[in-house]
Amino acid sequence: MTAQHALRAFLTLVLAGWVTASAVAEVAHPVIPKGKGERCVADTSVMRRNHMQLLKHQRDETMHNGIRTERFSLVGCMNCHAYVNSQPVSIKDERHFCNVCHQYAAVKIDCFECHASTPQPVSAAVAPEAHP
Ligand code: HEC
Ligand code: HEC
Ligand code: HEC
Repeated sequence: MTAQHALRAFLTLVLAGWVTASAVAEVAHPVIPKGKGERCVADTSVMRRNHMQLLKHQRDETMHNGIRTERFSLVGCMNCHAYVNSQPVSIKDERHFCNVCHQYAAVKIDCFECHASTPQPVSAAVAPEAHP
């Protein structure tokens, strides 16, 4: 199965699960927390299907070629997505944005062994309280 096929099959399952869940009251279904702001860094449908490529591509370029673009920054993702009911949550919380689909799709990612899974100051090097 190609990645595209796997994703399509997964999304079909989610939709089917959703429909079934609303027909049967009180059955848990995946709830993807809504992102902050007006829109994502790319079309939502593109992000749904291609975020892994976008992040990995960025990772490779950043790590190997020293190219740095802000568009697909992981810090950026967290600053809009690492919230549930407006409260910041970490990847340890099963409701974390990056967990809900992955649990269904049995996807495991190691990103948060190094990267923060919570909202971060855009420039953590200069904390606001450090200014006189
Ligand atoms: C400026 C805020 C913002 C940033 C930065 C951002 N997003 Fe989004 N994202 C949104 C909004 C708003 C939506 C569409 C509304 C929603 O959450 O359903 C969205 C939707 C998504 C979706 C589809 C969610 C669904 O319901 O199917 C994915 C996946 C996603 N974003 C991943 C990412 C990733 C990965 C990054 C970092 C590269 C990122 N986003 C950066 C605001 C943002
Ligand atoms: C709308 C559902 C959804 C959301 C939300 C989501 N993902 Fe994913 N992600 C998937 C699916 C499905 C796959 C597996 C796709 C495949 O196998 O082709 C995946 C795969 C990945 C992969 C590749 C894993 C591998 O083993 O190759 C990475 C990296 C990733 N996601 C990062 C993230 C990050 C970081 C977030 C939070 C910002 C996030 N994802 C949020 C659905 C989602
Ligand atoms: C072994 C530690 C480690 C792991 C695991 C790791 N990264 Fe990184 N990542 C780094 C370092 C170090 C940088 C460079 C930091 C910088 O440029 O400020 C980086 C940079 C990045 C960047 C660009 C900078 C930014 O603001 O986001 C992205 C995107 C990224 N990684 C995504 C990922 C994704 C997606 C995964 C999981 C599939 C992952 N990383 C796993 C260490 C790691």
